[in-house]
Amino acid sequence: MIRKYEAKDRQEARDIVYDCAFMGEPASAFFDGKKLISDSLTLYFTDYEPRSSFVKEIDKKVVGCLIGAKNKVVSERVIKDKVAPSLFYEALTSGALLKIKNIRLLLNLISSMIEGEFKLPNFTDEYPATFHINIKKEFRDQRIGAELIAAFLSYLKEEGVLGVHIATMSNSAARFFSAQGFQLLHQGFRSYFKHILHKNIPIYIYGKKL
Ligand SMILES: CC(C)(COP(=O)(O)OP(=O)(O)OC[C@H]1O[C@@H](n2cnc3c(N)ncnc32)[C@H](O)[C@@H]1OP(=O)(O)O)[C@@H](O)C(=O)NCCC(=O)NCCS
Repeated sequence: MIRKYEAKDRQEARDIVYDCAFMGEPASAFFDGKKLISDSLTLYFTDYEPRSSFVKEIDKKVVGCLIGAKNKVVSERVIKDKVAPSLFYEALTSGALLKIKNIRLLLNLISSMIEGEFKLPNFTDEYPATFHINIKKEFRDQRIGAELIAAFLSYLKEEGVLGVHIATMSNSAARFFSAQGFQLLHQGFRSYFKHILHKNIPIYIYGKKL
């Protein structure tokens, strides 16, 4: 069944997001430090806006989750004021900044930032909500993603939210969002995984009005 996220799902949701973070594969491909990367990908959603997230449960196990935010601007403010300082402290004290894999990523991220790769048009007026969606590998292509999206969109409509947007670097996920009636709003590229993939990868922003 699809149901609202509950506090008891926190660890399972974190594990799923971690395992899917590199275009559907585990985040260990690009980062050494499971807690730090899980915190940076999920902490806002699970701890500050848990009512906007949904999970798919099969046999009492979470097999997929959609972690959402009704308003990206609000979420970014909370991330900047509350989440980022604790992540920064964790990065300094956990030894993550001494690991070669993480240093290479960090240097590439800084270079991407200097090159202006993170500059995007403003989507948040027309499409204020955003989310991440991840399904365990063995449960993909069973319409679980479509069900989670339907539950989230109906929740957003009830809440009077005007639109939703999502960023993805996965070509496969891009086709999925298109199949869910999302429109391509923007396409760019990111270079910060070039030390792993030896090429730039596309970034797609998809949006849907509600
Ligand atoms: C992308 C993802 C969420 C899709 O969920 P899913 O449960 O596998 O997809 P569904 O079975 O619900 O697919 C729903 C529809 O989208 C289509 N679709 C899904 N993936 C597709 C793909 N790679 N190419 C073309 N169509 C696709 C399906 O054919 C289906 O169409 P239908 O309505 O005609 O049956 C899931 O595969 C996943 O978690 N991937 C890894 C993480 C990721 O990339 N997340 C997104 C970035 S935040």
